[in-house]
Parts: sequence; structure tokens; C-alpha cells
Amino acid sequence: MASLVALAATTALTTLNPVQAQFVKPPTDLKRVIGHYNIPVRYKEVPTGICELDPNVKSYSGYADVGEDQHIFFWFFEAREVEPEEAPLTVWINGGPGSSSMIGLFEELGPCRIDPEGKVFSNPYSWSNVSNMLFIDQPSQVGFSYSYPVPAWTSESGGVVVLPEEVCPDYAPAGTCGSYAYPNITLTANTTPAAAPNFWKTLQGFMGAFPKYSRNGFHFATESYGGHYGPIFNQYIEKQNKKLPHGAIKIQLETVLIGNGWYDPYVQYQAYYNFSVYPGNTYDYSPFDESNASMFYNNLYGKGNCLDRLQHCKDTGDNAICRLADNFCAYMVELVYDDVLGRDEYDMRYLTPDPFPYRYYESYLNTPAVQSAIGAFTNFSSNGAVGDAFDSTGDDGREIGTIEALRSLVHSGVTVAMYAGDADYNCNWLGNEVSANSVRAPGFSSAGYRDMRTSDGVCHGQVKQAGKFSFTRFYEAGHEVPFYQPLASLEFFTRAIQGRDIESGKHIVGPSYRTEGPLKSTYREGNGTVQFSVTPANLTYDVITNKPGAPWSVAKSGGETMIKRSFRGPRGVGGRPSKRRGLGFRFR
Ligand SMILES: *[C@@H]1O[C@H](CO)[C@@H](O)[C@H](O)[C@H]1NC(C)=O
Ligand SMILES: *[C@@H]1O[C@H](CO)[C@@H](O)[C@H](O)[C@H]1NC(C)=O
Ligand SMILES: *[C@@H]1O[C@H](CO)[C@@H](O)[C@H](O)[C@H]1NC(C)=O
Ligand SMILES: *[C@@H]1O[C@H](CO)[C@@H](O)[C@H](O)[C@H]1NC(C)=O
Ligand SMILES: *[C@@H]1O[C@H](CO)[C@@H](O)[C@H](O)[C@H]1NC(C)=O
Ligand SMILES: *[C@@H]1O[C@H](CO)[C@@H](O)[C@H](O)[C@H]1NC(C)=O
Ligand SMILES: *[C@@H]1O[C@H](CO)[C@@H](O)[C@H](O)[C@H]1NC(C)=O
Repeated sequence: MASLVALAATTALTTLNPVQAQFVKPPTDLKRVIGHYNIPVRYKEVPTGICELDPNVKSYSGYADVGEDQHIFFWFFEAREVEPEEAPLTVWINGGPGSSSMIGLFEELGPCRIDPEGKVFSNPYSWSNVSNMLFIDQPSQVGFSYSYPVPAWTSESGGVVVLPEEVCPDYAPAGTCGSYAYPNITLTANTTPAAAPNFWKTLQGFMGAFPKYSRNGFHFATESYGGHYGPIFNQYIEKQNKKLPHGAIKIQLETVLIGNGWYDPYVQYQAYYNFSVYPGNTYDYSPFDESNASMFYNNLYGKGNCLDRLQHCKDTGDNAICRLADNFCAYMVELVYDDVLGRDEYDMRYLTPDPFPYRYYESYLNTPAVQSAIGAFTNFSSNGAVGDAFDSTGDDGREIGTIEALRSLVHSGVTVAMYAGDADYNCNWLGNEVSANSVRAPGFSSAGYRDMRTSDGVCHGQVKQAGKFSFTRFYEAGHEVPFYQPLASLEFFTRAIQGRDIESGKHIVGPSYRTEGPLKSTYREGNGTVQFSVTPANLTYDVITNKPGAPWSVAKSGGETMIKRSFRGPRGVGGRPSKRRGLGFRFR
């Protein structure tokens, strides 16, 4: 392979030219094993201090080789406060399509966070406190997953420009050279259903390589585009379970959690209008004058506009029609908010650029020490190939059976916990609530909202639950709920995976369990936490006041105050300013 030749040449050059340090040295210390279903797995133990700081808690990272030139990166953490060999296993994946699960790991619910100096500090509200956690970068070419590594640089628009050898040319913008997955849309998935088999194969590989961590039930958690991935991937797992291919094992699926999900575009595009104009959000922020409001309405409901186009997509199933429909809706409906208001879609309380959640980890993951500690073959980057592949089929603009899949999971006894931060516009809770209702879980239509009770005595949201199906609204939380509400989301997660009631965590729920209360969640935060000027990049986020907190330099480091941190590094390392979701690889 040409890239190997280039790598060999580099080793010789490294001492001569420090510029070569910009490329990743491929690891030589990965163990090789064969997982279930004959999936090759290469991995290593990650040294203490690279994310998890406790020497008694092990972590492993590596790749499941699910296909030729398709290598899926995973990073596993043992549970902290439960015996790892008896703990349940939870997989977390981010959305996008094309978002790395390092977002969830470092910005939201993993064992650590990274400060502006690149130092690791512990997240005391890590979901790994109660469960073994497996973070997967999928499909291939997302994050650290790769097709095959090539030296390249990235252009302003995020395009990966492949180099003939590991020499960074003068014309490449500073800091853009590195080792990237060769971008090829045929070496990844281009729809949600097409991504399911490799996700399942990754689990087969991991569970075969690490049987001791896969004993006690399987839980799946995701957000955003996970509203597509979650239902369809888990439906696929259940289907495989029913007729196991030779060499594969049954995956005992127990829980599916989905935060701020992108389920049904037909619903969620309408929810942009509802959230912005009528009935509006709960932050007393309704900025549009009548002309903008009616433009918004017309772009959505006018003849030949967004909804008509989505319907046309549904009727024809044609890739080109679906793609154009989705792009029309994204530009003409969704983006009105960004264009007219300059607000962060993922947390409407902030103007852009929004320093929260912190993203200092992006630079951390691009240091040789960390890359070699986790056995990475590439730089940490977003790779436009996955977004492009999905875009080419209009997957974003298709409902693809997500609601039906959730219904069938509910019927087969799986706990389904939908949740949403109510300051997120991108996949906002108004639309998520409509989607939750449309699952028609038995008893859900007569269930009512209850305040969620947590150990800090603060009410962080409300829940409506019937049997094992629930919908939870989190107050004062953007798209990435665990960042904004770490304590409540850890308790929420714990209750869900233990099959307990979300309201109090005191009861194991049976099929007849119902919450009683009002049919609508009406609490209003008001605009006390809404920012009307751009928030300085050097501030931390204070989860007690739900506002920007002290600057980093004066915020104390260490476990207790970790909840008051902030960040904004170079926006979207290698991230393309997406035409629709301007946030590098955050998309949905
Ligand atoms: C890629 O990683 C190397 C370290 O292995 C680093 O020097 C380089 O700056 C990284 N490139 C990017 C674009 O982050
Ligand atoms: C999570 O685990 C860590 C390490 O065991 C511990 O220090 C921390 O208090 C735990 N967090 C919670 C919320 O119990
Ligand atoms: C992408 O990968 C496929 C399958 O390996 C290969 O046939 C094709 O030539 C590649 N495309 C490019 C542009 O390299
Ligand atoms: C939008 O609001 C209308 C009117 O209140 C309601 O009927 C509809 O269900 C809402 N849809 C969404 C997606 O929020
Ligand atoms: C609405 O649109 C007009 C242009 O037609 C613009 O001048 C105005 O500032 C916009 N803003 C809001 C928030 O309504
Ligand atoms: C904030 O909310 C108050 C009370 O609803 C309202 O009077 C005020 O106009 C709002 N401020 C802004 C800037 O929207
Ligand atoms: C934080 O940034 C602001 C400008 O964005 C600056 O005025 C202030 O001095 C900085 N504070 C610290 C402690 O660095």
C-alpha cells in the first residue's frame, strides 16, 4: 500500500525535519484477537491518566475490523463504583451523521474532561460510575475510525486533501496537516439502515474480545441523529437475535436512551417554528417580528415548500428528491434561527460563538502522547465523507421507521427513555414530545408529568412515564444534556438502566406503572439565563446558576468544581463548516 511506503520514509525523515511530527505514527503495540462472528479486534490497555485517573479503573481502546478498509474505533472504560465484571455494559454513540463519540466522552458523560491547558480532570458524574461504558466512533471514517490512513491537510471547507508523502507543504494552512482516514463515501454507510450491520459487528467483536465486560445486560445511549440510529440499530440487534448467524452471540438488549433525537423530520422541522414563534420556547424569547414569522411559516407550510417536499420524498423514496427536500428545509426553515438571530442552535440561550460545552479535548486528542496511548492510526478529525454519503441519500429528511422501531422495542419489553434539554433548538423538545406521543406506548397517553426528584433536592425537569417508556424534559439544558445537568442526568441514566421509575428511582417499574399529573409540561424558565451578548471564551459554565461562571484561570481544578468549566478551542478541528449545521462535526 502506498501509505505504508510513505510511513516508512517518514521514520527516516523525522529526525531531519520536525515538520514530520504532524503525522501520526501508527501503533505497534496493539493486541490482536478474534471476537465473535470472526470479527478481528486490535486493542491496547490505555494507561492511567489518559482520561481515567484512577489506576484501579481500567480502560481499553482499539479497533474492530468490520470490513475491508473499514476500521471502527472504540474506547472502553470499566465501571468505577460497581464491580466491572458484574456491571452492565452501555454503548454511547453520537449522531451527525459524522459526529465522533469523543463528543459524548469528553463534553458530556465520560470519566474526564480537558481544561484549557490540556490537563485531564475527573468528571464525578461520569456514567461510568454505574456502568461499563463503551464509546464507538461509527460509521467508518468518523473520529478515529478509518478506511486507511493517509497524510493530508484540510481545506477551509473541511475537504481532506491527500498528500503524496508525509511532508506538509508550505501552502497548507498552518495546523491542518495530519494523518486522516482516506475519504471515500463507498467505504462507509450512506443511510441509517446501512450503518446498522457494522455497528452490530463492532459489538460482536468487542463482546468476543472482552467477554467479562459483557455479562450483565446491554444498554444503548445516544443523542441527536441517534434518533435515527438508536431505533434502527436496536431493531437490527433484535432481528439478529432472532436468527443468529453462525459465530454470533445474542445481545441482551435492555435499555435504549435517546437525548434530543432527530426522529421524524416531518415533525421536527415543524417544531422549529413552534419553538421560535408559536407556542414558543419556555425562555420567554420570541424574537421574530411578524414579517420574519410569516416568512418562517411560509417556508414551512407554503405550497411547494418544506413539508410538501418532505411529503414528495416520502411518496417517491427517491434519493435526489429527498436530498433536495432536506436541504430546502435545512436552509429555509432550520437556519432562519441562525441567520436572523446568530444564536446557537444547540443552546438557544447563547449567541454564537458559544463557548459551551468545552472543546479543549480536540487539541488533546491531537497530541502524539495521547494518540500513542490510545493506539490511534489517524488524527482526531471530522471526515466529511460520512456527512456527504448520508446527504446523497437524503437520510436526514426521511423518517425511515424510527417511531415504529421504537414501538416494537417497547412491545418487546425494552426500556425506552427519550429525553430532551429544553434549550436546544436543533432537535427541540417540542418535536421530541410529539414523537414520544406518536410511539403510542401502552398507557402513555393517559400518563401525566411529574417533577423529577434528584439527590440535590433541585427540580431539574419533568417526566411522563408509562411502564418502561418515558419522556423526560430537562430544564436549563442545551442539546448535550449531561454537560448542563450532570447530576440529574447521571441519576436519570442510573434509573433507566436499572428499570426504575425516572421520577424518583425508588421503584422497579412494571407494565402498569403510570405517572399522574398534567398532560403538558408548563414550567417556564423565563429569560434570566438567556445571554444577549457573546459569552467570552474564557468562562466556565456554572451548573448551579445555569449561567456562565468564573473564568478558567480562577476556577478551581479538581473533582468538586469540575462542573464549573468552559471552553472553546479552534472550532471543529478539521471540521467543515457544514452548509447546514455550522458546528464542525457536531451536526445533530
Ligand atoms: C495530528 O497529530 C499530530 C501529532 O501526532 C499533531 O502534531 C498535528 O498537529 C495533528 N494535526 C492536526 C490537524 O491536528
Ligand atoms: C463517581 O465515582 C468517583 C470515583 O469513584 C467518585 O469520586 C464520585 O463521587 C462518584 N460520583 C458520584 C456522583 O457518586
Ligand atoms: C473508494 O473505495 C472503493 C472500494 O474500495 C474503490 O472501488 C473506489 O475506487 C474508491 N474511490 C476512490 C475515489 O478512491
Ligand atoms: C406545533 O404546534 C401546533 C399548535 O400548537 C401543534 O398542533 C403541533 O402538534 C406542534 N407540532 C410540533 C412538532 O411541535
Ligand atoms: C426580520 O426581518 C427583517 C428584514 O425583513 C429584519 O430587518 C429584521 O431585523 C428581522 N429580525 C427579526 C428578529 O425579526
Ligand atoms: C425578558 O422577560 C421579561 C418578562 O417576560 C420581558 O419583559 C422582557 O422583555 C424579556 N427580555 C428580553 C430581552 O426579551
Ligand atoms: C476573559 O476574556 C475577556 C474578553 O473576552 C477579557 O476581557 C478578560 O480579561 C479575560 N479574563 C481572564 C481572566 O483571562
